[in-house]
Amino acid sequence: MKKNDNCLYVIFGASGDLNKRKLVPSLYALFVQGLLPEKFAVLGVSRTPFTDEAHRAAMKADIHKYKEVEDASQIDAFLQKIYYVAVQVNDEAAYPAFKQQLEDLRTKEEIGGNTVFYLSTPPTSYGIIPKHLASVGLNKQKDGWKRLIIEKPFGYDLKSALKLKKILLKDWNEDQLYRIDHYLGKETVQNLLVTRFSNGIFEPLWNRNYIHRVEITAAESLGVEQRGGYYETAGALRDMVQNHLLQVAAIAAMEPPSSLEPIAIRNEVLKVFQSLRPIQQDDVHTQAIRGQYVTSTIKGEKIPGYREEEGVSPNSGTETYAALKFYIDNWRWGGVPFYIRTGKRLPTRVTEVVVHFKPTPHFLFSTGEGANACNQLVIRIQPDEGILMKFGMKTPGAGFDVQRVNMDFHYADLTNQRIPSAYERLLYDTMKGDATLFARTEEVIEAWKFLSPVLDAWTNDKSVPLHGYPAGSWGPETADELIDGEGMTWRYPCKNLSDDGIYCEL
Ligand code: BG6
Repeated sequence: MKKNDNCLYVIFGASGDLNKRKLVPSLYALFVQGLLPEKFAVLGVSRTPFTDEAHRAAMKADIHKYKEVEDASQIDAFLQKIYYVAVQVNDEAAYPAFKQQLEDLRTKEEIGGNTVFYLSTPPTSYGIIPKHLASVGLNKQKDGWKRLIIEKPFGYDLKSALKLKKILLKDWNEDQLYRIDHYLGKETVQNLLVTRFSNGIFEPLWNRNYIHRVEITAAESLGVEQRGGYYETAGALRDMVQNHLLQVAAIAAMEPPSSLEPIAIRNEVLKVFQSLRPIQQDDVHTQAIRGQYVTSTIKGEKIPGYREEEGVSPNSGTETYAALKFYIDNWRWGGVPFYIRTGKRLPTRVTEVVVHFKPTPHFLFSTGEGANACNQLVIRIQPDEGILMKFGMKTPGAGFDVQRVNMDFHYADLTNQRIPSAYERLLYDTMKGDATLFARTEEVIEAWKFLSPVLDAWTNDKSVPLHGYPAGSWGPETADELIDGEGMTWRYPCKNLSDDGIYCEL
């Protein structure tokens, strides 16, 4: 990795949580590694007036608190590049003066015109700030590139996503838009691409002829914490599935790209989104399960249910768990079910993709726990990043008992280098102008189209149940019935927490 061209990094929502926890600590990590441009400044923007010094002091504390790198020796040098302005961002009249402030800072720091505008604001501002920036010409690229970074949610449903698309594309080109999906910044999500396309042994098997099903789990042991207010407007489907998990599914399912160029990779990802078979309203009962955690006691501690969390309605119908079964209608995947599940307050934190291969066509061995079991390739995205291959081996001794064994690779064994955080990687890419790991407009729209019938049914059809599940369990048991095939179940079944013994935190 090398230094990018000089640029100014403008962060709207500078007093917000994301800036404190992720953005500034990640920029500092890049600074320490010498990966920020030669000439560089970060301008924090919020409504509340602060001096540069007060903002720097707050950022200093946050870099220490949410540290991304151990080396604290360069914090003061980094802070000299941090500035702050208070702007009423929803007021168009504030923008001519704001433009002048940017000019002054550029002149002072000798930066030139390249600018990143990062919207770390509530989504209600997404349709406003870009328009106001454009009203004073801050979208124009004559004096250097201008890029707009947006955090999810990219709309609330198909209708609002189409509206946002229209607003953004009125003043900005698609190649100026960077929609952050931090899952795409995770090393192991990118490693899925490398595993698939740098090894000759997987690709020939990676299709409907050899794969029985693909399962993607993103389990979280935490509840909604202090984000009850936001979560009430989202729910698990919008919060995790519409973006992160469909992106992971697309990388697992895409065709080999013709090159590593962003356009080549994104074209293949888009084709997967376009091939998602929508779940029809009539099938929502059987293909989309939702749940909400209820109070329970874990290790003697009473865990509140979702409806008791701060900012959550006592009658809330928001799902904290979602599980889907769906198909990708193309030649590679015809007939292969994909399963996605995610939830809060599950027994542990784990995100993984599990490729279940078909069983052998003829069962020779009938005894032992591994007899006739399908092979599984587990791509562990977090924690303990790595890859696990499960297969049958003879149990030593008389007879032909088959035992299931693991071929286990841990990312940590590959290198003692630290794994950069997702934000660090993505912020670097925004300065480099590499949009490979960002969602483009059409992907977002296709994802909403795919989920619309489920969202409609979950909102309007009272007969679709919202299952309660005890905090600390693997979600509603009904979700087990999603998996096709006798004896088939999720890799961590509800009643039997783990068969690797590595994810049991309870
Ligand atoms: C965020 C969601 O996008 O991703 C959160 O809003 C969720 O609700 C988080 O907890 C999960 O991210 P990670 O990186 O911890 O798996």
